[in-house]
Amino acid sequence: MSISLIGRSVGESVTLKLNEVAAILRAKGEPLIHLGGGEPKSKAPIDAITRAAALLNSGEIRYTPADGIPALKQAIIRYTEEYYHRKVEPENVIASGGAKQAIMVALQAILDPQDEVIFPAPYWVSYPEMTKLCGAVPVPVLPEDGSFYPRLQDIEQNVTSYTKAVIINSPNNPTGAMYSEKFIAEIVEFCEKKDLYLIMDDIYHRLIFDGRKVINPWQFVKDKSENSKMIIVNGVSKQYAMTGFRIGWAVASKKLIRVMTNIQGHQTSGASAVMQHAAVGALNGVQSGVESLRLTLENNRNIMVEQLRAFNGVRVAPPDGTFYTFADFSVYEKDSTKLANLLLEKVRVVTVPGVEFGLDGYLRLSTCGSVKDILEGIERIKWALDPESPNELFIGDRKLVRDWL
Ligand SMILES: Cc1ncc(COP(=O)(O)O)c(C=O)c1O
Repeated sequence: MSISLIGRSVGESVTLKLNEVAAILRAKGEPLIHLGGGEPKSKAPIDAITRAAALLNSGEIRYTPADGIPALKQAIIRYTEEYYHRKVEPENVIASGGAKQAIMVALQAILDPQDEVIFPAPYWVSYPEMTKLCGAVPVPVLPEDGSFYPRLQDIEQNVTSYTKAVIINSPNNPTGAMYSEKFIAEIVEFCEKKDLYLIMDDIYHRLIFDGRKVINPWQFVKDKSENSKMIIVNGVSKQYAMTGFRIGWAVASKKLIRVMTNIQGHQTSGASAVMQHAAVGALNGVQSGVESLRLTLENNRNIMVEQLRAFNGVRVAPPDGTFYTFADFSVYEKDSTKLANLLLEKVRVVTVPGVEFGLDGYLRLSTCGSVKDILEGIERIKWALDPESPNELFIGDRKLVRDWL
């Protein structure tokens, strides 16, 4: 069978695959602990549900404008004013099938084959594959100082005449690192000076800890006209616990949004009408759920870090936000895929191998589940890896004997 070059170059989404594996094992009654997930467990806001239900009940569910229904665009405009202090018009906004589609159509709108896209590593698994889908070249950049916080010089050193765009995701999936205001200011200024597109993937921007304040990258843009090449991406998936609704958006220049709308119009005709109504409900409704999710995640982060610090040899930097902890397990196993497979097979704990995010030896551990999951998950991992732990472990009434160390 003949498959296109682009089709062959793109791998499967490891995080989505892990969700499938977890669902299959759970359905078989396996005592699984899923520390691999990327979605909050709280319920979607009631305002989202009632708004979507009202449309469903009307029975009239039609095509919408490819770039989104006016009510959703208005809600996004309000959000942009509140968090970015930026007044935009409906023509500056596109609603998409998740932040993922917003990023994808943005890349399709700006990239030509051979163009290069720079992003700091560790990175969200989809950036390299999305770039390759455009026939372009991903350029992941690991900070030279070995931290999770890139410096301008890390990015600068990788710019070539082919560089078209930079993607910044802060706080970051998988590390939870929130980049400093100084770095955001520098990268905005740098991209403006070099005439590069700057995609700000802000999907976790309100899920931050220890009294940190949301950073508004738009404040550092000098040319605030329609010539600006900043593309701000956000959505309801993470902050409103609405991953399955698939609504995200981009805010950018009118010209770029027009091109993105043309692309999206031919790809999907736009996001589902029902889900767009749900997103309007979430954005315009009671907002207390976001803060209570943030508080829960901060508490879970504290517990996760405490548990990992009691673990001989594992190195962990406390995440500044998100619901991920990216811990260095290389003292036990340098091959993170092998390690994640061992943990799944032996103690039924799902983790995501760091290599998928561009850094081997690490595991991404999710803190969006329950405290019980975190405590029991880390206990099982510790038992599986630490030769000093007792030789036997009970999972329910199942007795495990460690025979692999
Ligand atoms: C960094 C980052 N950007 C974008 C997305 C996609 O979000 P959505 O569910 O809105 O497509 C994710 C989801 O995991 C993510 O981690």
